Amino acid sequence: MERLDTGIEELNKKIEGYPKGRTILITGTTGSGKTILGLHFVNKACADGKNCKMIATEEIPEDILIQAESIGLQLRKYCENGNLIIDRVYEERTGHAKEVLAFGIEQLDELQSNLLGLLERIPDNTDIVVIDNIGVFTLNMSVNEFRAQFDSLIFGLSKKNITTVIIMDESANERMGGIALYSVYGILKTSIKDNPYTGARERLLEILKIRNTKIPLDPIKFEITSKGIVLLKKEKT
Ligand SMILES: Nc1ncnc2c1ncn2[C@@H]1O[C@H](COP(=O)(O)OP(=O)(O)OP(=O)(O)O)[C@@H](O)[C@H]1O
Ligand SMILES: [Mg+2]
Repeated sequence: MERLDTGIEELNKKIEGYPKGRTILITGTTGSGKTILGLHFVNKACADGKNCKMIATEEIPEDILIQAESIGLQLRKYCENGNLIIDRVYEERTGHAKEVLAFGIEQLDELQSNLLGLLERIPDNTDIVVIDNIGVFTLNMSVNEFRAQFDSLIFGLSKKNITTVIIMDESANERMGGIALYSVYGILKTSIKDNPYTGARERLLEILKIRNTKIPLDPIKFEITSKGIVLLKKEKT
């Protein structure tokens, strides 16, 4: 199976890269590093000349570019040369919300529950997609509705042979009964936890599954620096 570079060399060594044409889910608590993990992938794919799409539901494109720059990833040039398209779903969502509120909340619900509609935004020649954060679509969805739409979205993306990273915040994942975990090919989970021995707060990356791949079972400690995510070596015991 062909693999794509995750954009983080040490992570490539651990999971061989993201399987081509499949979907990886990144979940985790707020501020744990989900978006940055996605940005590394986008940056490398752009550098490799791939057609990349970012669907940003919680941030304006400018903030994403600023965040990327702060960790040494110059995404702006890829927006200019056409390798990267950042969809303005955030502005559309909030803009529509203002208009729709005048008419009633049902219409707003409908608008914010159209997960499958994302597929129409993705041209056939796209190589990779990062959707950050799919959780916003689930606020008014039943678990059944979510499953149907989520599965169709993933199927549609894999039919186009697009390698996809879907970010879903942990509370949305829990609200949807964790069913997203079963539909995807692989799952990475980021968190911030207290080390019970040292009392220090630590960032952890867990590889929960990647089908068809040998994965490390222990959580991997990492830091976020001016160069982005840096995986730490396992301490000798
Ligand atoms: N340049 C930087 N240097 C060091 N740490 C940084 C830098 N940029 C961001 N961070 C750290 O990364 C964290 C945010 O990471 P990220 O945005 O990927 O998290 P997230 O899981 O996507 O959060 P959210 O719930 O807001 O979507 C910040 O809280 C900050 O601690
Ligand atoms: Mg984020």
